Amino acid sequence: DANILRDAHGRDHAYLRISLTERCNLRCTYCMPADGVQLSPKSHLMTYEEIHDIAKTFVKHGVTKIRLTGGEPLVRKDIPVILEKLATLPVELSITSNAVIIDKFIDVLKANGVNKINVSLDSLDASKFKHITRRHGFQKVYENIHLLVKEGFTVKVNAVLMKGFNEDEIVDFINFTKGLSVSIRFIEFMPFDGNKWDISKMVSYAEVMNYVNEAFKEDDIIRLEDEPNDTSKNYKIKGYQGSFAIISSVTNPFCDSCNRLRLTANGQLKNCLFSSSESDLLTSLRKGKSIEPIIHKAVQAKFKIRGGMDTLEKLEQPDLHGKNRSMITIGG
Ligand code: GTP
Ligand code: 5AD
Ligand code: SF4
Repeated sequence: DANILRDAHGRDHAYLRISLTERCNLRCTYCMPADGVQLSPKSHLMTYEEIHDIAKTFVKHGVTKIRLTGGEPLVRKDIPVILEKLATLPVELSITSNAVIIDKFIDVLKANGVNKINVSLDSLDASKFKHITRRHGFQKVYENIHLLVKEGFTVKVNAVLMKGFNEDEIVDFINFTKGLSVSIRFIEFMPFDGNKWDISKMVSYAEVMNYVNEAFKEDDIIRLEDEPNDTSKNYKIKGYQGSFAIISSVTNPFCDSCNRLRLTANGQLKNCLFSSSESDLLTSLRKGKSIEPIIHKAVQAKFKIRGGMDTLEKLEQPDLHGKNRSMITIGG
């Protein structure tokens, strides 16, 4: 029986990221194009039964971890039912959220075994938050991060770094982990359709470490052991409760240990964050056909590095990365 989740490069895929919606209650410039996105008609979006059916097939073939993304996954009206359905599967269930309204979901998250939550927050300054998200909400997110920690969730905070915007906050973010047990992850800004990416706007792993080395003593900067298949390089400052990390998809891709597949809200399988090719699972499911051969073929076709954009030169070409979806419809 062929392992349909093993690709041609020998990688096994045990981690499925499911986007629940293309909608979001924020408008982050690096994620949602300025003119918005063409939303899929509702009839093209997976229902909660379909999400459960597709997830079941992946679990049967070895998926042990499911992360719910969006858009903002919590704006989906039937999120409680989706969580209940997926909680019946033998997987670690987690969620990536902007946390603006997460305080209303504490009980339902706990009841369904979600105990790890990744929160997107790019600035600790309310006016910068408003500038990048084009919405209010900083205070809610800030309070909700503390609430999540108090409620016992394992919290990671994702901050996309952009030149001249929030790189001056790297040390503030790290100091935020002094008395609070969260992991702050600095993410290299990545190119997607409509996000006006330019390599000169990106703050690299090496640049982050320059700031760190300037602000802290060498002996106090501790390199932590990364989890298997981790997206991040993890560090902590001696004596601090939390930790920090860098997600370096651009300057140090971690594709060798990639175990991730993605399902878009309209039921398309993406074998890589950067791959523009998609495989339509939902249509086959609706026709009552087996989706396994489609999954197998999609996984087999996965490129070794970044959807084929293996060099920086290729990643920089808009005719390559611009063919991909915008981030809001991928889910990160
Ligand atoms: P954990 O499950 O806690 O390790 O989280 P995660 O890093 O897998 O997921 P999260 O949703 O928090 O994503 C954080 C950042 O990592 C986002 O910018 C994602 O786009 C990026 N990321 C997540 N998975 C991948 C991946 O497979 N490839 C690349 N290049 N980036 C990824
Ligand atoms: N580059 C890097 N990370 C991004 N995210 C969204 N858009 C981008 C981008 N262009 C991050 C969000 C969220 C995660 C799922 O993906 O900050 O935390
Ligand atoms: Fe995996 Fe593609 Fe991300 Fe590389 S860029 S880690 S292959 S999803």
